[in-house]
Amino acid sequence: MTGLISKPAAGIHGTVKIPGDKSISHRVLMLGALAAGETSVTGLLESEDISCTAQALMSLGVSITPPNQQNNVWRIRGMGGKNLGTPKAPLHLGNSGTSARLLMGLIAGYPVSAVLTGDASLSLRPMGRVIKPLAQMGARFETSNGERLPIKMTGSTNLNPVNYRLPVASAQVKSALLLAGLHTRGKIIIIEPQPTRDHTERLLRLLGADITSELQPDGSNIITMEGNQPLTAKPVHVPADPSAAAFLTVAALITKDSDISIPDVLVNPLRTGLYDTLIEMGADISFENRRESSGETVADIRVRSSALKGVTVPPQRVPAMIDEFPILAIAAAFAAGETMMSNLAELRVKESDRLAAIAAGLTAAGVKVATGENSLRVTGGNGKVRGGCTVATQLDHRIAMSFLVMGLAAQEPVAIDNAETIATSFPSFAALLNGLGARIGV
Ligand code: S3P
Repeated sequence: MTGLISKPAAGIHGTVKIPGDKSISHRVLMLGALAAGETSVTGLLESEDISCTAQALMSLGVSITPPNQQNNVWRIRGMGGKNLGTPKAPLHLGNSGTSARLLMGLIAGYPVSAVLTGDASLSLRPMGRVIKPLAQMGARFETSNGERLPIKMTGSTNLNPVNYRLPVASAQVKSALLLAGLHTRGKIIIIEPQPTRDHTERLLRLLGADITSELQPDGSNIITMEGNQPLTAKPVHVPADPSAAAFLTVAALITKDSDISIPDVLVNPLRTGLYDTLIEMGADISFENRRESSGETVADIRVRSSALKGVTVPPQRVPAMIDEFPILAIAAAFAAGETMMSNLAELRVKESDRLAAIAAGLTAAGVKVATGENSLRVTGGNGKVRGGCTVATQLDHRIAMSFLVMGLAAQEPVAIDNAETIATSFPSFAALLNGLGARIGV
């Protein structure tokens, strides 16, 4: 395990290009793999999680060509109506929950058996939430680890259409069902208790699928898609990841004399809850040049250092910032007053128990924090946080990056025990921040 240490910085400045959105990158590989024709992709995230999805698809017989030296275009030769092949070896999905859950939905519609495995973190994460509805549709699963990886599954060419209400708001489960739904005999209806990131729906529409979403008066969302739909390849551009940009945004806010610009960031409203919250806290963040790109909205973001104040995060906003609570907790530690976060049960089953990991890290850095079963309260230091600690990252990239960001503005350096997992989502994180003026090193 290699750690990293982040030392106080005298402001971060400049324009920084952030890698492509992780959620869209997984989806474009998977939907491109099923479409008829060749999907060319620019801006694809190159990270370990995305490589797990690409390798798994190649093991299932899909041809994926990385960029050559002349261009930055990935090419996916889609299967069209052809069957996927049975992989010769287990599909290793590393740390990536999105790879595991979405691939289960994708494989469910083919006459293929596959074993899915993951690292120590992924092998602890609940898979029953995808197994249950996919089994109702007709896929078969064998697990010896209590609905956790490793899992052997066998798909079917004759899946039943379902009308399924998701017990938890989860874009991964919804997307798994939509991928399987491309092969059902009739219409599939999915009801999500609250709207979650809708990149799968948008990409499906872009590739020609007939799919609708209807927001209900009670806040739930009904998605309806016809079964047995062909997809047609189209060029896709992947914009910068707002969940990765979040770390640089908070770094600029909490580090005095900072001013950064981040171009071409995905600003889908189902992903920008953190930015809404930071603006309520008093953050100086502006969105310029809003435009459409491959069925998504993007904008250029400018962030300047700001004095923040604590807020209460509306519980209904949680799905739109589900991955951003570790970095929000860092912003909250520097704010004046208390920040209250609730409706966080899902944080317990992410790459780590994020509620526990956040609380342990903040406590080690001298920040007052209280956790409930599903909630977190952080008492900010009004610009002052002691730091001077080593944080246990629990194989969780977002915990690792969040506490390195804290080190930029804390009074004493902040170290993390293991920086290797950062490569799952944002391999250039430390280099990009150092290019702006941070001091992150071994
Ligand atoms: C993701 C959905 C979210 C999120 C994850 C990526 C996706 O997970 O936490 O990082 O790409 O669909 P859940 O669906 O489990 O909430």
